[in-house]
Parts: sequence; structure tokens; C-alpha cells
Amino acid sequence: MLREEDIAARIATEGESLALVMLGNTNYYTGQYFDMKSISASAHAVGAKVGFDCAHGAGNQDLQLHDSGCDFAVWCNYKYLNSGPGGLGGAFVHERHLNNPDLARLEGWWGHNKETRFLMRDDFEPIPTAEAWQLSNPPILAMGAVWASLKIFDEVGMPALREKADKLTGYLEYLVNSLGDDVVNIITPSDPKARGSQLSIQVRNADKSLYERITAAGVIADWREPDVIRVAPTALYNSYSDVYSFYSILRDNIKTV
Ligand SMILES: Cc1ncc(COP(=O)(O)O)c(C=O)c1O
Repeated sequence: MLREEDIAARIATEGESLALVMLGNTNYYTGQYFDMKSISASAHAVGAKVGFDCAHGAGNQDLQLHDSGCDFAVWCNYKYLNSGPGGLGGAFVHERHLNNPDLARLEGWWGHNKETRFLMRDDFEPIPTAEAWQLSNPPILAMGAVWASLKIFDEVGMPALREKADKLTGYLEYLVNSLGDDVVNIITPSDPKARGSQLSIQVRNADKSLYERITAAGVIADWREPDVIRVAPTALYNSYSDVYSFYSILRDNIKTV
């Protein structure tokens, strides 16, 4: 686990030699969630720009990217946002960077003002949103999957999803911890404010065959070497009984390790 005060101290030590602070807002391995607002403030205090890789945060936490003050964020939609493998990515650019003609960036025709895009003028007139960063037109079928998924997220709302997700992950944590410290060690923070849905469970003396056995028993989780199972009950479609099933399958298979 990284301590946020250590991140802040390191940014201050590097000082104005830093051009960019770029961090995963939710660490892919541990599931630790970082306070983007305070990291953004530390980065800006030394004159650096700050960006977040929200691959494990988008659709998981209520990110409030604008209020975090970060300069930009990027994410894939194929984890919590259900776009399917190979789906489109997403990007956020803070509004203070919009309409800045001096900003050096890679520009493509799809980022040009939609009203005048086909006039084929020599100049580039950026769309006054993050759309200005689009290079070319996106694949429509892949967009359809993201569109359908985002409509459901909009309908339910992140606050309601987080409320359920905290309960599901808390229940999972309680069950997994009941296996005992000599068997498992959850490396994700136990503070719900410092995590999302994911728990990373280190299983003592385990190898990948444990993951293979729980997969064969119907669990869709993830294995990270040397000994970590990452699992994330998802509020939109996982239930408390799914969490209990995972726990019992894990428990039964650990016994045979
Ligand atoms: C930390 C992190 N960043 C980004 C990505 C997604 O990368 P890409 O959008 O290139 O598929 C992943 C996917 O596993 C990831 O774990």
C-alpha cells in the first residue's frame, strides 16, 4: 500500500523538475484508490501537470474528475464499464485546457468543429470539449456497446452503485478474512474510502493452480503472480449470494493447496 503523504512528499522533493505526475487512480494490483484532489494539488504546487489512468476507476468509483482538478484522465471502458474486450477508451480534459490554440497536441480531422469539418479549410478549429482530441471517427459498433452500458450507469447513478458496492466488498472482505491470517492476506486497504469494488487476496503458499481450480468451479476472477487473486463483485450484476459462492469455492479449493 502506498501512503498518500509519501506521494505528496516525493512530488515536493522532485519539485519543479517534474513536468507530469501520472498515476493509476486505482492501483491495478492492490486496488488502492488515491485521492485525486490532493495529488492534483501537490502536483500543481510544483508546476507539474497531473493525469490519471482510471482504467480501474471508471465505473468503479465516483471519480468527479472535474472537481479533482486534474488536468486529464484516460481509461478503458472494458472493465467496469462493460464495453467488451477491445472496446473504445475514454478521455477527460479539464476545461481550463479547452480553447487553447497554443496547446501542442496531436490533431486529427475528427477533432475539428462539427459545423465546419467538411469545409476542408486549412486551419484547425478545435471542438471546445475533450472531443478535440479525437483523431478520427470511432468504430460505431464498439460505441454502441459503451452507449448501452453508460445509459444503465446514468439511470442507476454512481452514488447508488457505490453504496451497494461498498456493502458487497465489505461482505467479501469479512468472509475472506474469516479464513484466517495464516491462509489469506488482503492487500487492498480496508478503508472503503481507499478502495472500490476490488479486493486483492494474497493466498499463502498458493500457485496458479488455485486460480485454475476456482475458474473451473465457475468463478471469474484474475490471477497475478506470485500469489494474488483479484476479484471485484460488481454492484450492477453481482449479488450477496455470488459473493458467498465465491468465498465457499475459494475456501474449498484452498484446503487442497
Ligand atoms: C492500469 C491499466 N491501465 C490501462 C489499461 C488499459 O489499457 P488499454 O486501454 O491500452 O487496453 C489496463 C488494462 O488492463 C490497466 O490495467
